[in-house]
Amino acid sequence: MPGKFITLEGGEGAGKTTCLMHLEKLIRQSGIDLCVTREPGGTRTGEKIREILLDRGNIDILDETELMLMFAARSQHLNELIRPALAADTWVLCDRFTDATYAYQGGGRGISQERIAELEQWVQQGLQPDLTLLLDLPVEVGLQRAGQRSTPDRFESENIAFMQRMRSTYLDIAAREPDRVKIIDSSQPLENVLLQIDHIFTDVLAE
Ligand SMILES: Nc1ncnc2c1ncn2[C@@H]1O[C@H](COP(=O)(O)OP(=O)(O)O)[C@@H](O)[C@H]1O
Ligand SMILES: [Mg+2]
Repeated sequence: MPGKFITLEGGEGAGKTTCLMHLEKLIRQSGIDLCVTREPGGTRTGEKIREILLDRGNIDILDETELMLMFAARSQHLNELIRPALAADTWVLCDRFTDATYAYQGGGRGISQERIAELEQWVQQGLQPDLTLLLDLPVEVGLQRAGQRSTPDRFESENIAFMQRMRSTYLDIAAREPDRVKIIDSSQPLENVLLQIDHIFTDVLAE
């Protein structure tokens, strides 16, 4: 049986990295081979593309350039890391994936879903995550949490309206694909959020 492909999504400060570490522990404790990675990035080339995308000094990047850089990094990631891992029965746990492109470049920047879907089809050839955990919380709460972390990057510096469009795009995807995308209320105290993840993981193992 091929490995499972699990992605974590959500806005800035939603708790993706925190939850990813918890889920990583659960999966490893079950004796499953696991590859933990992130987007944009995850490969040598992808991490270089990530640097370009996150650098606040790059004020001249056009929206379509940003979109194609995301998919360029993703193509490298899928071919170099994700597909080979899944084929070798290794699970892949990824901090953000294509839903983030719909949310940021689509909802946030205003690029049409059709345009993004064309690139998705080209790069992914139908490959989708088996499970996506969407960490959802009010934008202001996430920004407050993320703000205590470090200097904001090019995306973290976007305005509240951008983040709200992004959040609603994520929620639209979850409403359209309830089997794949599980919404987690991450405005809850951390222990409750982690419990929600425990329940979902138990269900995944029972499949
Ligand atoms: N449920 C929670 N309640 C309170 N603080 C949280 C919760 N989840 C995460 N945090 C804190 O919020 C900050 C952002 O979390 P992080 O996992 O880095 O978010 P993301 O990776 O989605 O940007 C961290 O300082 C983390 O400890
Ligand atoms: Mg993070």
